[in-house]
Amino acid sequence: MACQERDPTERRIAKPVSLVAFWPVALYLLCMLDEIVNAVRNCRSCVVLTGAGISAESGVPTFRGSEGLWGKFKPEELATMAAFISNPKIVWEWYKWRRQVVGEVKPNPGHYALRYLQQWFDQFTLVTQNVDGLHRAAGSENILELHGNIYRNKCLDCNHQFSEDMDIDPDNIPSCPHCGGKIRPDVVWFGEMLDPQIINKAFSESEQTELFFSIGTSAIVHPAASLPITAKRQGATLVEINPEMTPLSGLADYYVSAKSGEFLPTLIERLKQTSPPG
Ligand code: APR
Repeated sequence: MACQERDPTERRIAKPVSLVAFWPVALYLLCMLDEIVNAVRNCRSCVVLTGAGISAESGVPTFRGSEGLWGKFKPEELATMAAFISNPKIVWEWYKWRRQVVGEVKPNPGHYALRYLQQWFDQFTLVTQNVDGLHRAAGSENILELHGNIYRNKCLDCNHQFSEDMDIDPDNIPSCPHCGGKIRPDVVWFGEMLDPQIINKAFSESEQTELFFSIGTSAIVHPAASLPITAKRQGATLVEINPEMTPLSGLADYYVSAKSGEFLPTLIERLKQTSPPG
């Protein structure tokens, strides 16, 4: 479904902003900001996909890049079923450390801006690969957590879910009272299927949406990385916000080379000035 007031013959090319002098960059970003404001104004539905980058300004490490977790730790030893079966203690120590990290941080201006953004649309879906719960903490609604939630626990064998306040001792991992299986974090590990209801809903919203934002994700982990491509194929306007270019940047109608915690609040301010919600 395409946005209203868009010229269908318009060339849809990405607009990288790596210009040399500062003022053309500022001017360029300003023009792009206004075009994105217009896109928000003219579209009735929006899907936002977020990745680790949106939480980076809160102090949560990303997975890839120079400071990324997967540069320091091996995912196959910490985030797979095989790792948990062979060494559940080390896996639980890793998740307890990550729970502590995300437990000590707060949503940043990017998370809050997305909570406000939903007001400009009849249909708004926030799809996140993050397990940190920061979108919910910022007050966003209608969130699809593709990769689970780091605070939740479930049984390895029967999938029974357990309360979030369950404290796990990695030296003495509790067993499921229903089947005796080990308790594990309720996140999606490498090689595991995503919850079919959640991923199907994310795809159906992406197929129908008029506007799609991809924010703070390296856009390489599927099926999440297929969502913006699906939306674009169905005619949505695609906006990417990421200081680094990704495989998606060349497909985006607008590639914004900026931190989400800086660009998104600016977008909201501009929207409030030019076209308040409702
Ligand atoms: N604002 C926006 N983007 C940012 C910021 C920021 N302030 N800081 C970093 N980024 C970008 C990086 O440039 C990078 O492209 O965020 C992206 C983070 O990429 P990844 O670390 O790969 O995170 P993500 O895409 O969420 O990873 C997907 O991989 O390991 C799995 O399950 C894990 O959900 C995760 C999935």
